[in-house]
Amino acid sequence: MKIDIVVAPRLYQPVMAGLERQFAIHPLWEAREPLAFLSSVADRVRGFASFTGYPVPAKLIEALPKLEIIATMSVGTDHIDLAAAKARGIAVTNAPDVLTDCVADLGMGLTINLARNLVAADRFVRAGDWTKGLFPLATKLGGATMGIVGLGRIGKAVAKRAEAFGMRIVYYGRRRVPDVAYPFYDDLVAMARDSDYLMLTCPGGEATRNLIDANVIAALGPEGMLVNIARGSVVDQPALVAALQSRQLGGAALDVYADEPRVPEALMRLENVVLAPHIASATHATRRAMGALMIDNLAAHFAGKKLLTPVI
Ligand code: DGY
Repeated sequence: MKIDIVVAPRLYQPVMAGLERQFAIHPLWEAREPLAFLSSVADRVRGFASFTGYPVPAKLIEALPKLEIIATMSVGTDHIDLAAAKARGIAVTNAPDVLTDCVADLGMGLTINLARNLVAADRFVRAGDWTKGLFPLATKLGGATMGIVGLGRIGKAVAKRAEAFGMRIVYYGRRRVPDVAYPFYDDLVAMARDSDYLMLTCPGGEATRNLIDANVIAALGPEGMLVNIARGSVVDQPALVAALQSRQLGGAALDVYADEPRVPEALMRLENVVLAPHIASATHATRRAMGALMIDNLAAHFAGKKLLTPVI
């Protein structure tokens, strides 16, 4: 007999197929009344296959008395109430490492877009404006300083790429990272002041909520650029919009937002931003690998084996 698991949101099709081969799937994303749906399967559901975009708050966890594991195919776990899971002794696993390269690639892509105005250049050519004049000159990346907020796996992968472009790397975090030579700042405002590009690669959640506030944004300044491939919650979004509108901040490239998939109209109207729909890990190869790791964690748990990538 297959073990019963709940899935939400709907996952990439090859991952859904992999889950269906091993488990009896209950598609929570289809439920109009999630709690009523969960109560109809509560006597048998032992696992939850999760991903960013569908929060797993305490009330969903409480609705599943037989739940043993929540496995997310994301590296981030800020959509899961970890304290509620821990209190019940429910295991939580995530999907680190397998997405690092793709997320770092997008971080660098957004940085290049900000420096060289590629999105605007594309619009310029399509609109036939080239026949009327030249596209405005842009900014050289080589020699610029990238300040990285959170030098973890993804931050280090971005640093490696940015160094290859001739950028100077500095970083801010809760503590100095051993074995890296990049200058460390324990003062985020000071680092923002010294950076041309502020690259956000730290985890989301309460510990980093609004870390990038009006003071940090002001320190980055009218020539400064913000790149967010972390979580929307890390930035005070209204302060960011206001600074972009007033040109107190030079520009921003965002893959993540405070209330996804809703993006403030005010941001969409701005020329000095590049907007992506949370796609940093969204390649076929990487999403397959993330899904495989999630499935392997579920299988290991139900086989009584050691979890591959436990969070708690
Ligand atoms: C993650 O893995 O946390 C990414 O943000 C995927 O959405």
